[in-house]
Amino acid sequence: MKFSTSLIAFGMAAATAAMPQPRVDKPVGKWFDRYVVIVFENNNKDVTFGHPYWYNLTEMGMVLGDFHGTTHPSQPNYITMISNTIAGGVFDDADHNTTQMSLIDLFEPAGITWRAYMEGYTPLSNGGCNPISEDDETLYVRKHNPFMSFDNIRNNTKRCRNIVNAEQHFENDVALGADAPMYMFITPNLDNDAHNTNVSYAAPALQHYVDTMLNNADFMKNTMILITFDENDIYSPKYFGTDNNIYSVLLGNDTIQCYNCNDQQYYNHFSQVVTIEQNWGLDYIPQPDGSEEGWDQWWLPFGLLRNDGQDICASSPCDFFN
Ligand SMILES: *[C@@H]1O[C@H](CO)[C@@H](O)[C@H](O)[C@H]1NC(C)=O
Ligand SMILES: *[C@@H]1O[C@H](CO)[C@@H](O)[C@H](O)[C@H]1NC(C)=O
Ligand SMILES: *[C@@H]1O[C@H](CO)[C@@H](O)[C@H](O)[C@H]1NC(C)=O
Ligand SMILES: *[C@@H]1O[C@H](CO)[C@@H](O)[C@H](O)[C@H]1NC(C)=O
Ligand SMILES: *[C@@H]1O[C@H](CO)[C@@H](O)[C@H](O)[C@H]1NC(C)=O
Repeated sequence: MKFSTSLIAFGMAAATAAMPQPRVDKPVGKWFDRYVVIVFENNNKDVTFGHPYWYNLTEMGMVLGDFHGTTHPSQPNYITMISNTIAGGVFDDADHNTTQMSLIDLFEPAGITWRAYMEGYTPLSNGGCNPISEDDETLYVRKHNPFMSFDNIRNNTKRCRNIVNAEQHFENDVALGADAPMYMFITPNLDNDAHNTNVSYAAPALQHYVDTMLNNADFMKNTMILITFDENDIYSPKYFGTDNNIYSVLLGNDTIQCYNCNDQQYYNHFSQVVTIEQNWGLDYIPQPDGSEEGWDQWWLPFGLLRNDGQDICASSPCDFFN
């Protein structure tokens, strides 16, 4: 395949006597060639596993049964999904601008394409980043869009063009099949992500994303989808003080070693970063001051991708509720 593509490229270049462009091969992942994450809000895992649609997905994929939000409240959880510290003092839900680096700084030199899909988000007319805190009509909030906090993304129009309105772009991008972005981050609006609602309300929104992807075999080739939450429902008295344990399920039968199975290793949102770094052979995310403080060195990649001989699938029957 690669050989014949090169031949065609060479033939065309020769015919037009143009300088052939160097052919950049797509980086090939160790476990997956595309990573998709969809992030929901503020629910305890017993509630989520207890809902029929969300439970149904556990039978189609691999449950990460001991997955934790990194912290509270929302925003720093999102930051830790794409970076290596709770960057630049982003410990609350207020707007912050940070000089920290992120996965994006690793993706671009490696040729890993990316896009962030934000429901209800309106970029500036030139595609630049719109730093508004919230849009009361569309229920977009900046605190659920971690990319916006990084100066080297928010100040860079080219990068900003990869942060798009989900409603306008997600389906078209999935329809690109094999050519869809290799890293896709999806944030539903405050109703669809269960923040202002609950997991029953959010289920059809989730199903729309899941079905759009699963119905496209070219897109799903070597694709891994993580469905997760930012944090648990710490704000309800019932769960106050409990462990920050959340529903997280991986889908994609080309990439996970088993479905309807349960990986009981401890994970948190930094594990996403570690999984992505190790999948594409990327370095750790650098610290702007050159220090080695990065927390992406401390966690394991998702277990059933590690293929290290552990038969975690044998741990059924799955006990998701503990
Ligand atoms: C389970 O989820 C899949 C994917 O969205 C969907 O096609 C199927 O109808 C669902 N089944 C049930 C029983 O909810
Ligand atoms: C994975 O394969 C199994 C068996 O064919 C199927 O039941 C399940 O729905 C598949 N999961 C996904 C996400 O396609
Ligand atoms: C962050 O930078 C944007 C411009 O990129 C600016 O509009 C906003 O006020 C800054 N926010 C903070 C909290 O410094
Ligand atoms: C990014 O924009 C912020 C606010 O506009 C500014 O303070 C900062 O110096 C800029 N940083 C870079 C790296 O361009
Ligand atoms: C979820 O919210 C809907 C309204 O959108 C409500 O009808 C339903 O009872 C709620 N379900 C639960 C389990 O709280």
